[in-house]
Amino acid sequence: MTKKRVLIIDDEFEIRSLLGKYIEKMKDYEPCIAKDLREGLELARNNDFEHILCDYYLSPNGNGAGRDDQTAIEFLRRARAAGITSNIIVMSGKAEVDMAVHVTKMGAVDYLAKPITFAQLEFALKRAEEREKLFKENVQLKQQVEEKYSFSNIVARSPQMERIFSVIEKVKDYKTTVLVTGESGTGKELVSRALHFNSIRKHAPFVAVNCGGIPENLLESELFGHIKGAFTDAVRSKRGLFEEAQGGTLFLDEIGELPMTLQVKLLRVLQEHEIRPVGDTRTIKVDVRIVAATARNLGELVRKGRFREDLYYRINVLTIVIPPLRERREDIRLLINHFIDKYNEVIKPKKVTGVSPEAMQVLMNYRWPGNVRELENVIERALVLTEHETIQIEDLPLNLYAMEVPSEGDGKGEFIPEALSIKKNAKKIEKRLITIALAKTNGNKTQAAQLLEISLPALLYKMKEYGLNT
Ligand SMILES: Nc1ncnc2c1ncn2[C@@H]1O[C@H](COP(=O)(O)OP(=O)(O)OP(=O)(O)O)[C@@H](O)[C@H]1O
Ligand SMILES: [Mg+2]
Repeated sequence: MTKKRVLIIDDEFEIRSLLGKYIEKMKDYEPCIAKDLREGLELARNNDFEHILCDYYLSPNGNGAGRDDQTAIEFLRRARAAGITSNIIVMSGKAEVDMAVHVTKMGAVDYLAKPITFAQLEFALKRAEEREKLFKENVQLKQQVEEKYSFSNIVARSPQMERIFSVIEKVKDYKTTVLVTGESGTGKELVSRALHFNSIRKHAPFVAVNCGGIPENLLESELFGHIKGAFTDAVRSKRGLFEEAQGGTLFLDEIGELPMTLQVKLLRVLQEHEIRPVGDTRTIKVDVRIVAATARNLGELVRKGRFREDLYYRINVLTIVIPPLRERREDIRLLINHFIDKYNEVIKPKKVTGVSPEAMQVLMNYRWPGNVRELENVIERALVLTEHETIQIEDLPLNLYAMEVPSEGDGKGEFIPEALSIKKNAKKIEKRLITIALAKTNGNKTQAAQLLEISLPALLYKMKEYGLNT
């Protein structure tokens, strides 16, 4: 085993040689000696020391006399500036608490008061190593935790999302078209990017195009390119996105919006692996993996005749369905912390450490119709607004904690008060509660009245008042 090297910097001859002897006696260590700051720095720069023992007051001539202006503080500063990572332990003849605090703040790992015994020194070295080990383990552990719950920026721990991680892992390298579906803001683009950036195609481009965001007449030349003179504005020829994505991935966002005419053309590309630029007679071979995303129900679009069935089957080979956030609530807390970290960086020097228990309850119970994107916006807004170290209820948008009552229609809508008048809102809530009770009891008014804890005549009266069918 190679010995760990220890540098001793002390201006007094007796002390540096005594410490050197101590180190020699310890079987795992080997001493190296310097008499002043300049010599110490020089040695520290050019050698790899496990520890550096540095005297606090260092006279420049190395004999323990003269000026006291060169101190271990100066050594710490210069050592850090030079990128020296050894454990630095400062020693001093004066046992001062202030000094100990000061040197540790400056980056020393420990402080020893002279006279120093053999046992004290040995103990200090071991303790410094133990600390370093713990620190490294801590960093590692933190990384592991982050890795465990995140896959290429996708933060999640729910079993549903873990399944998605393993699907990504399985299918990433194939050329098979992948369809990613999920409500708005669930992370469809994020998952699509993860598919690309973890695949063998990662060094080739990931090109995203929003099929609903470009006028139909432009989309074709956008996708396939055009030759000069193909149409009035085509003053020069232009490469399409398929060619831009050559060797990589083309992400077709909102595929459900793709116009019928282009659906035929896309189907051809998927079958023949070649494209024809607008106005061109040649075809160009393309090697592009297609990942398509949609928040809409493609099957339903097919039934309505708005999406080609043949293209649908071609695209729907491998589908990744991202569940809405409200169906994987165990991800909410993790995402909140993730976004707090993210936006703390942005809105410095403010520092938010977390969420108050009441606000957390609101965030956990909310329906999140806008999913992760909505959660991200809520956290960003709260971080900007809050005047506390933790996010409070009042830092959240009103609609998150205003009483949530399903509306008559779809049973999904929230109750969002327009004004804060209790009188007006009480009536609204009453009407909704009665509607729900009637729905639950299939219109049985006696049972509904029991659920509502009012009398049957009172219910009938209120139904009439609110114009509900009696
Ligand atoms: N699991 C997640 N971890 C971290 N960030 C996420 C996660 N899911 C979504 N996000 C973030 O939420 C935002 C919305 O995600 P993304 O754009 O991928 O959603 P989308 O499903 O494509 O939404 P839309 O249908 O509205 O286009 C992005 O800022 C994304 O980084
Ligand atoms: Mg998207």
